Amino acid sequence: MKTLSALQKDILALKKDKDVAILAHSYQTHDILEIADVTGDSFQLSVAASKLPQQTVILCGVRFMAETVKLLSPDKTVYLSHADAGCPMAEQMTREEIAAWRKDHPDHAVVAYINTTTALKTVCDVCVTSSSAVKIVERMPQKDILFIPDCNLGSFVKASCPEKNITLLQGGCPVHTAITAEEAKAAKAAHPNALLLCHPECLPDVSRQADFLGSTADIMRFVRESEHREFIIGTENAILDHLQYECPDKRFYPLSKRLICPDMKLTTLNDIYRILNGEGGEEIRLDADTSEKAKACIDRMLALG
Ligand code: 13P
Ligand code: SF4
Repeated sequence: MKTLSALQKDILALKKDKDVAILAHSYQTHDILEIADVTGDSFQLSVAASKLPQQTVILCGVRFMAETVKLLSPDKTVYLSHADAGCPMAEQMTREEIAAWRKDHPDHAVVAYINTTTALKTVCDVCVTSSSAVKIVERMPQKDILFIPDCNLGSFVKASCPEKNITLLQGGCPVHTAITAEEAKAAKAAHPNALLLCHPECLPDVSRQADFLGSTADIMRFVRESEHREFIIGTENAILDHLQYECPDKRFYPLSKRLICPDMKLTTLNDIYRILNGEGGEEIRLDADTSEKAKACIDRMLALG
């Protein structure tokens, strides 16, 4: 068992003293997960946030995740762990662009991946996360669906819901889409006994080679429950660290050393320590009208998911 550092112990004491909850996405480094109250994928964090008793929450991850927490808990004080931590995919489409698309396609429901800005959510019908996308699209009453912004997750949903007519636009995660089909082939050849586990944000040519496709939490659950001993991890490399601590008898290989999200890596223990001392981070503030419309989109996700 790993012993905690002095800084980790200080953070644990401060958060207890100030009654602050720390939520950490699984792409955060392992030292951050060790001091968090809740860890998981974006769906787990958004559900957990609304049930926490603490009045103040620090979200260690990226901006859309902190905004989701604030939407679901408007009376809480919510801090984003590092003010510059955004998700480039969340910024790829604008509210105006999608509102115009809707006008031209009044029969379509617009389904937004949760990796979108709060402003964009105001013109969408429902949000999904990577772990809930298929189930929610299946449950939508409309047959015609525009799925934004990730066309790779969208392709996965489209293949899983053949009864729906799904339109995709060109968007996606720059970290996951940088991985090529050739890299996936080479990793499988280098580790013939390992299963390849990928996030659906990967390109379809990579996902097609995977033995399992799922959200970060789905991938971690798969590893815990699997009889297999070796795995190639096709998502952010932080997951390898967490899994190696949890499953020391299993072996993990990165699909690529480039699977590192620079925004997720901005947060350090020191940022959390500073926020607990009243400095740094960014308190999330959303205007009331935008919040009401965007929250409806998330509420529908929670109801359907
Ligand atoms: P999850 O929905 O699996 O948490 O993924 C969020 C994300 O940003 C993946 O790149
Ligand atoms: Fe956004 Fe990709 Fe980073 Fe996830 S890994 S936060 S989708 S840039």
